[in-house]
Amino acid sequence: MIHSSTSNKKTMASELPAWQALKEHVTEVDATHLRDLLHDDQRCMDLIKESEGIYVDLTRQRVTPKTLDLLYDLADQAGLKNKINAMFSGEHINSTEDRAVLHVATRARRDQKIIVDGKDVVPDVWEVLDKIKNFTDKVRNGQFVGVTGKPLKKVVAIGIGGSFLGPLFVHTALRTEPNAMRASRDRTLRFLANVDPIDVARALDGLDPEETLVVVISKTFTTAETMLNARTVRSWLIERLGANAVEKHMVAVSTNLKLVKEFGIDPENAFGFWDWVGGRYSVCSAVGILPLALQYGFDIMQEFLAGANNMDEHFKNQPFYNNLPVLIGLLSIWNVSFMGYGAKAILPYCQALSKLAPHIQQVDMESNGKGVDINGQRLPFETGEIDFGEPGTNGQHSFYQLIHQGRVVPCEFIGIVRSQQSVYLKGEVVSNHDELMCNFFAQADALAYGKTQEQLRSENVPDYLIPHRVFTGNRPSMSIMLPSCTAYTVGQLLALYEHRIAVQGFIWNINSFDQWGVELGKVLASKVRTVMNSARTRDRKVLPGDGFNYSTTRMINRYLEGKTQ
Ligand code: F6P
Repeated sequence: MIHSSTSNKKTMASELPAWQALKEHVTEVDATHLRDLLHDDQRCMDLIKESEGIYVDLTRQRVTPKTLDLLYDLADQAGLKNKINAMFSGEHINSTEDRAVLHVATRARRDQKIIVDGKDVVPDVWEVLDKIKNFTDKVRNGQFVGVTGKPLKKVVAIGIGGSFLGPLFVHTALRTEPNAMRASRDRTLRFLANVDPIDVARALDGLDPEETLVVVISKTFTTAETMLNARTVRSWLIERLGANAVEKHMVAVSTNLKLVKEFGIDPENAFGFWDWVGGRYSVCSAVGILPLALQYGFDIMQEFLAGANNMDEHFKNQPFYNNLPVLIGLLSIWNVSFMGYGAKAILPYCQALSKLAPHIQQVDMESNGKGVDINGQRLPFETGEIDFGEPGTNGQHSFYQLIHQGRVVPCEFIGIVRSQQSVYLKGEVVSNHDELMCNFFAQADALAYGKTQEQLRSENVPDYLIPHRVFTGNRPSMSIMLPSCTAYTVGQLLALYEHRIAVQGFIWNINSFDQWGVELGKVLASKVRTVMNSARTRDRKVLPGDGFNYSTTRMINRYLEGKTQ
């Protein structure tokens, strides 16, 4: 384990010569406009990458060839290659938790070897995957049935954060993919994440408990929301089907198999993973593969794993100038740390990818929203990005106004060449998918070029409207095109985003794999829980001596009194 002390000052990213050079370089880039940069064909050719079937156009980033050279220098000086190698070779790069970071092992091919603490973990990964295949096949073909003998066609996956967002993203991506649709006919997968009783009611609404299988997903098996929801659903099952229901209707995914057993779930129906898989990086472990294989079958999930593995190999082996996660990660560093763009918009022009932004919000913001570097030194610059997004074209009718004429927000457009679905209305000039993609192509240029006063004048726009209708342009974006939206390409896309986030953390020299920032709120909620419970059982108010300030005391009392006005 690497221990460090703030008294032994270590070099920070911002002290590297390339960081300084990039800072100075900003004025040169500020003097350019994307309108002109896009007319330099050689620059454009160099900024378009085609790799692993994925087409990435970086020409609308506010960069010159010099910017890229300086970013490669920064990568070298930050030891990026060594850090990537350290991750893949199972070093404990998550130093504050003394853990390896090996989500890549969860999608390793059977013939790969990945060593953690002297042990090849790939056989363990495949032991769990084989168990998932065996179990999900039996559920899907009706060999494993509920207590009353009915097939288990409805699945409720209970989990939150990384034990929810990744599986939800992949489920949403596959729902309308033709092979996945065929494989999931007559089956239902729902998620229960929030401890809000409304979410419980919605998740269980209309379900027949006799046909319902509940998957409790929690790395720690201690997360308050998940465990309360698991107890609630357990009692829903027991009330309707009797005490034996748990054995046949509840299964679990966790690293804490002892607590799973204590909860009453048959250890045979528990699917493990390992502390070297971070929660937000766990969708390729049993966390995602179990519920998704119940819905779509194991073969489709194997394609998803193969896609993620393809991007892992690309990230590990490709030189930086051709390495998609490295390039995209370096450009994000440029945008955040040098150009001062603190947010980014993730804009898939594909409804199936509508849960990409919420998933990446957790992966990115929980990973890179840090205040100190890996050595515990307070950072003199901000890390992380504020991520948000909606599928196009919906977003265009919502927040694009701000993106076009308000703040500068680098945009990531994701388009699909062949849609999962085709609708072509006779008599229409273009299909629905063509229409969608027309917008995908148009938005990137609208942001880059903008519209000048001169153009508006030549269109006879009245003077008083000109300031309102000017678009400054010069707003950066990148465009990613996937050949299709299948289990395989969704796996590639997921790993592309995971690794670009790691690249950013490696350059900023932070620990992207811990999440101490979520702890304080959890501890305070537990204090509120104790005081609320004691006030309720003694039928009294929360008192000033209970340890809360005036504001919190008054709010809790208002809630306890049930006051609505
Ligand atoms: O909210 C923080 C967090 O620890 C996430 O990192 C994690 O994905 C989530 O809670 C759920 O944790 P668990 O899988 O242990 O229930």
